[in-house]
Amino acid sequence: MLAHRGFLRLCGSEFVWGYTVTLDVNFVRSQFPAFAEPALDGQAFFENAGGSYTCVQVYDRLTRFYRERKVQPYAPYAASRLGGEEMDEARTRLAALMGVDTDEVSFGPSTTQNTYVLAQAFAGFMEQGEAIVVTNQDHEANSGPWRRLAERGIEVREWCLDPETGRLDPETLADLLDEKVRLVCFPHCSNVVGEINPVTEITAIAHAAGAFACVDGVSYAPHGLPNVGELGPDIYLFSAYKTYGPHQGVMVMRRALGEALPNQGHHFNGDALYKRFTPAGPDHAQVAACAGMADYAETLAAHHGITGSAAEIGRGVHDLMRAHEQTLLQPLLDHVSAKNSVRLIGPSDAAMRAPTVALATEQNAEGLAAQLAERGINAGGGDFYAQRPLEAMGVDLGKGVLRLSFVHYTSEDEVSKLIQALDDVL
Ligand SMILES: Cc1ncc(COP(=O)(O)O)c(C=O)c1O
Repeated sequence: MLAHRGFLRLCGSEFVWGYTVTLDVNFVRSQFPAFAEPALDGQAFFENAGGSYTCVQVYDRLTRFYRERKVQPYAPYAASRLGGEEMDEARTRLAALMGVDTDEVSFGPSTTQNTYVLAQAFAGFMEQGEAIVVTNQDHEANSGPWRRLAERGIEVREWCLDPETGRLDPETLADLLDEKVRLVCFPHCSNVVGEINPVTEITAIAHAAGAFACVDGVSYAPHGLPNVGELGPDIYLFSAYKTYGPHQGVMVMRRALGEALPNQGHHFNGDALYKRFTPAGPDHAQVAACAGMADYAETLAAHHGITGSAAEIGRGVHDLMRAHEQTLLQPLLDHVSAKNSVRLIGPSDAAMRAPTVALATEQNAEGLAAQLAERGINAGGGDFYAQRPLEAMGVDLGKGVLRLSFVHYTSEDEVSKLIQALDDVL
């Protein structure tokens, strides 16, 4: 959908008339089989931060792989060659969208397992007495594996969020840094606080102190893949199954760090950067199906008149998704902020956050989610493996939080239905 903005701008290598492009939600929903699925009819899905619906491009590639290419890849016969090529294609095209080199992208069974392997690599890389920084805003996946390095003689320093706002203040990070710190781990966006952290600024602070930066992007990536090359961290992790893809963890490991860390894969694979931190044999079909995430981004771009290089398409699609989400998010934030019985976790300004909205209430959150389910709202209650941030903000873990999370395929009608249902149960 195009609204004329009336000026000429440079887009990629060609001049096009400048338009403000708004997301065509009906087109978007036509790309997700779940929205045509009778079993899900009438259900408004608000647990996207737990796992998104899968786009048709990924679904088609996955089923084709199982039907036609489900053999050991990279041999010369057609089924095997095509399977291997499709796995390579997934890395090549996702890397291009994120502004990094193909061999800087690798896949693992999940982000939690990717982080676990990385922590083993750092254990072999760091000297006793050196330090890392972790936050208490992270999901446990980017926290526990790093904290366990304390058992191996590594000093673990905690960068603490503000207990009122949930915010991580970059200024307080500086106090934790000195020449002993080798790594700073933090989230692009917490799965309960929702605030978008300034990754480039934080990375610059870490780098200036001689430390590397590891960013958990799991809660951010579904709202538009970032250009990791421009963003700047040394490691960026996200989970494909929350980003319209199959159940895989995706890891960007920038070359300088990846070559310095000890190889965690088979010794004869150590020269291939993308094999160094994935000791398990990959899930061939799912890796190949990740190419469908790039297909989807390109399909969205083409439909909305976004052209240019892969990185420009990535940026255009990112901005398109974010703009739609912010428009839908602000009324929800305003509505819940006005309720005295509810504590909204994180910022009430949609521009500052992802549409992952956690609410602490007097009631038990799982009970609330059950009441919402009766009204056709699919959401969850609990701690979402974010016990540390919730505890630090004084949330009763016994009650947990009700989490309402949506993405760009969510419609205005669904948000209105959610608001009505919240009025019934809160
Ligand atoms: C912010 C965040 N980080 C990490 C993870 C862990 O991802 P995975 O399930 O791929 O291990 C999750 C999962 O919910 C998450 O929300």
